[in-house]
Amino acid sequence: MIVFLVNGKEQRVDVSPDTPLLWVLRDKLGLTGTKYGCGEGLCGACTVHIDGRPERSCITPVGDVQGKKVVTIEGIPENHPVKKSWLAQDVSQCGYCQPGQIMSAVALLASKPSPTDADIDSAMSGNLCRCGTYGRIRRAIHAAGG
Ligand code: FES
Repeated sequence: MIVFLVNGKEQRVDVSPDTPLLWVLRDKLGLTGTKYGCGEGLCGACTVHIDGRPERSCITPVGDVQGKKVVTIEGIPENHPVKKSWLAQDVSQCGYCQPGQIMSAVALLASKPSPTDADIDSAMSGNLCRCGTYGRIRRAIHAAGG
């Protein structure tokens, strides 16, 4: 039995500890906001926070989050400055990668409230967007920051 917190709520799942966290979130807990892109830790679509740090849930065995705090896109309030900024800047195109983008952006601004362009590019470099919304992502992060 793996016990951990997801969006502030204790969850107990009876799965192999090797199961990727992504599939536990999506298939066992119904939290489908976290997306599957590459499954190899390369695209960032599956980004969640584990104890406050952005991590790739597709390559994180659920056994590794025993006793830890996981936050998914569903755990970021709708009135969070990053979510509001994303809407105001009309960032999304197809939208598929955006939950992961937002999770990385929230983590960046939590550690660096007024990031430079270089900070943003560095923090967001692991989140790929096939629609190429990078310019709007950068603007939304600046607007949400200080
Ligand atoms: Fe996890 Fe691409 S699906 S990094």
